[in-house]
Amino acid sequence: MQFILVVILVLFTLAAAAEEAVAAEAVLPQAKPGCTYRCGNLTIPYPFGIGPDCYMTKDFSVRCNTSTKPLTAMWDASPIAINNIYLAEGEMQIAQYVAYDCYDSQGWTNSSEPWLAVPPFTISHTRNKFIAIGCDAYALFRGYRADEERYVTGCMSICDNLDSVEQSCSGVGCCQTDIPRGLKNYTVRLDSYYNHTYILDFNPCSYAFIVEEGKFTFSPNTSFKDLSNTEKLPTILNWEIGEGPCDEAQKKYDYACKANSKCVNRNITDELSGYICHCQPGYQGNPYLLDGCQDIDECKVSKPCTNGRCENSPGSYSCLCDKGYRSNGTNNQSCIKEVPKNIQSPRSCSCLLYH
Ligand SMILES: *[C@@H]1O[C@H](CO)[C@@H](O)[C@H](O)[C@H]1NC(C)=O
Ligand SMILES: *[C@@H]1O[C@H](CO)[C@@H](O)[C@H](O)[C@H]1NC(C)=O
Ligand SMILES: *[C@@H]1O[C@H](CO)[C@@H](O)[C@H](O)[C@H]1NC(C)=O
Ligand SMILES: *[C@@H]1O[C@H](CO)[C@@H](O)[C@H](O)[C@H]1NC(C)=O
Ligand SMILES: *[C@@H]1O[C@H](CO)[C@@H](O)[C@H](O)[C@H]1NC(C)=O
Ligand SMILES: *[C@@H]1O[C@H](CO)[C@@H](O)[C@H](O)[C@H]1NC(C)=O
Ligand SMILES: *[C@@H]1O[C@H](CO)[C@@H](O)[C@H](O)[C@H]1NC(C)=O
Ligand SMILES: *[C@@H]1O[C@H](CO)[C@@H](O)[C@H](O)[C@H]1NC(C)=O
Ligand SMILES: *[C@@H]1O[C@H](CO)[C@@H](O)[C@H](O)[C@H]1NC(C)=O
Repeated sequence: MQFILVVILVLFTLAAAAEEAVAAEAVLPQAKPGCTYRCGNLTIPYPFGIGPDCYMTKDFSVRCNTSTKPLTAMWDASPIAINNIYLAEGEMQIAQYVAYDCYDSQGWTNSSEPWLAVPPFTISHTRNKFIAIGCDAYALFRGYRADEERYVTGCMSICDNLDSVEQSCSGVGCCQTDIPRGLKNYTVRLDSYYNHTYILDFNPCSYAFIVEEGKFTFSPNTSFKDLSNTEKLPTILNWEIGEGPCDEAQKKYDYACKANSKCVNRNITDELSGYICHCQPGYQGNPYLLDGCQDIDECKVSKPCTNGRCENSPGSYSCLCDKGYRSNGTNNQSCIKEVPKNIQSPRSCSCLLYH
C-alpha cells in the first residue's frame, strides 16, 4: 500500500511539473486563441495572423508557404517573404531582391529591375540604406511617398581597377545614400556609362539594393563575388495600426491597445501616422490581444530586493525590509541596517518601501 502511494505521489509530481512547463509556455500567447502563431521557426504575433479570424485587418494577413524548405511566411498584401516581425518596434524584416546589371564581351546584357510596393506600410528611412556596387554603375532609386509625392535619388560609382577601390563604401566601387521618410514603393534601375567595356575582366556586374543598416558591409575583396550569389537582402518595413494618432484612435471602437497597455504614436509621416501599442511598465506580452499584457513577477525574474522580502503586485513590486533593516530612502530596492536611535535597544522593524 505504501509502495503504491509513493508511485502515485511521484506521478502526481511529474504531472504537476509538466503542467507548469505548459503553463509557462502558455503564459504569453502571441496569437488569438485557436490560431497558429508559427510558420517554420518564425513567430507571427497578432495583429499579424494566418487566416481571416487570426489577423486584425487584411493588411496583417500572412500566408505560410508550406512548399518551401524551410517554410516561408509571405505577406499577403505583397509577394514578400517575411523574415521577422518586431512587435515592440512596429517593424518587420523582409527579404527583398538585389538589382543586377551584367555585361559580357559580346555586348549582351542581363539585368533586373526589382520593385517593392508596401502600402499601407512604409519602408523604414532610419533602418535602411540604398547601396550600389560596381565600377561602371549608375543606380537610380525611384519611389512614391505616402502623400503620392514622387521621389528620385541614386548614386554612381566609376573606377578603373579594383586596387583603387577603398575598403569602405565611400563612392569608389560602392556608393550609398539615405532614403526618405514615408516611402510606400520604389523601383531600382541600374545603368552604365561604358557598358563595363574596359573593366569586364574584374567587374562584369553592378548591383544595387535597399538593405537594413549593418546587414551589408562593403569589401572590394569579397562583395562583388558575394553579390553574384545573393538573390535577396534584408530590408526593414514600418507597420502601424490605423491612421491617425493615439488621441484620435482611443475614441474609436476599434482601438487596438488592450488592458494594461498604452498607445504610442508611430509618427512616421507628419499627417498619416498611426500608432502601435506597448505593454505598461511591469507588464509583458502582446498588447494587441485580450489579456495579452500580463504582470511581470519581478520577484522571480530578478530578485530585486536586498535585505528584504520581495512582494509582487500587478505592474509593480515592493520590498519589505527584513528585521533590523530599514528603507534606504533613495534606493527603494535596498534595505540598510537600521541605525538605532537609542543605542541601548536596537529595534527591528518591517518597512514598506513602496507599492
Ligand atoms: C530557423 O531560423 C534560423 C535563423 O533564422 C535558420 O537558420 C534556420 O534554418 C531556421 N530553421 C527552421 C527549421 O526553419
Ligand atoms: C510557395 O513557394 C513556392 C516556391 O518558392 C512558389 O512556387 C509558390 O508559388 C508559393 N506558393 C504560395 C501560395 O505563395
Ligand atoms: C545572365 O543571368 C544568368 C542567370 O542569372 C547567368 O547565368 C548569365 O551568365 C548572365 N549573363 C550575363 C551576360 O551576365
Ligand atoms: C507606386 O505608387 C504610385 C502612386 O501611388 C503608383 O502610381 C505607382 O504605380 C506605384 N509603383 C509601384 C511599382 O507599385
Ligand atoms: C553600350 O551598348 C549599347 C547596346 O548594346 C550600345 O547602343 C551603346 O552604344 C554602348 N555604349 C558604349 C559606350 O559602348
Ligand atoms: C584584399 O586583397 C588584397 C590582395 O589580394 C590583400 O592584400 C588585402 O589584404 C585584402 N584585404 C582584406 C581586408 O582582406
Ligand atoms: C513627428 O515627428 C516630426 C519630426 O520628427 C515632428 O516634427 C512632429 O512634431 C512629430 N509629431 C508628433 C505627433 O509627435
Ligand atoms: C542608498 O542607496 C544608494 C544607491 O544604492 C546609495 O548611493 C546611498 O548612499 C544609499 N543611502 C543610504 C542612506 O545608505
Ligand atoms: C524606485 O526608485 C526608482 C529610482 O530610485 C524610481 O525610478 C522608481 O519609479 C521607483 N519605483 C517605484 C515603484 O516607486
